Amino acid sequence: MQNSQLSPDLLPQHVAVIMDGNGRWAKAQGKPRVFGHQNGVKAVRKTIATAARLGVRAVTLFAFSSENWRRPEEEVGVLMDLFIYVLSTEVKKLHKNNLRLRVIGDISRFTPKLQKKIADAECLTAGNSGMVVNIAANYGGRWDITQAVKVIAEQVHSGDLAVSDITETTMSQFMSMADLPEVDLLIRTSGECRISNFMLWQLAYAELYFTPVFWPDFSEEHFIEAVTWFVNRERRFGCTGEQIKALMEK
Ligand code: IPE
Ligand code: IPE
Ligand code: MG
Repeated sequence: MQNSQLSPDLLPQHVAVIMDGNGRWAKAQGKPRVFGHQNGVKAVRKTIATAARLGVRAVTLFAFSSENWRRPEEEVGVLMDLFIYVLSTEVKKLHKNNLRLRVIGDISRFTPKLQKKIADAECLTAGNSGMVVNIAANYGGRWDITQAVKVIAEQVHSGDLAVSDITETTMSQFMSMADLPEVDLLIRTSGECRISNFMLWQLAYAELYFTPVFWPDFSEEHFIEAVTWFVNRERRFGCTGEQIKALMEK
């Protein structure tokens, strides 16, 4: 019989998720793509709740990429409305649960109304000490590296930083989520096995987990399956989903 006491130290500290497959999920039921996006919200709630109960320190969810503007205008509109709606309805719950919400990405392209919602949500939850929930919106890994380079270039230009002092650590300091633990597990749903310009710098050493499940079907069980896989990848062979569940707060 294996030791049933698993150390929480073995769990991932920062889990990133590419929430993919909403459109195909809807299409498989003869529904429009936006129906999939609407149903993806439930999976977002479940993922946040499960990660928090496991004691994960940060989750980063890819909600809208810098390339997603290329989608039909109507679909982009629905995604923006959904984003505003979710910020309005969910933030209070996150706050009640002591979670911190942050949005990463170039939010300057969003409407003033959406930018205000984002700022209010971040401000409301800024003092919370629980898990950090990052929503990547108009985010691109290349954008993130580029914006870090711009800040560094400005510091060099103003004489605050010498070129010879620029190191990988300098870069890391100016990337999104510099203050959070390294991403150690990336989950992508829907069977696609690519990064799609998500975090490029921060995923350098992450374990990459791909599941065929479409995002709206992604459940607590699926999240635990991914975490179990991660713990076993870290050479704790033979750990079971039950042991992971035992670490969850009730
Ligand atoms: C992911 O689902 C959600 C976003 C990118 C906003 P998709 O919309 O990419 O769904 P598929 O990949 O077309 O099925
Ligand atoms: C990645 O999914 C972006 C998000 C999940 C927000 P996409 O569906 O946009 O990626 P590609 O186009 O398949 O690479
Ligand atoms: Mg997709």
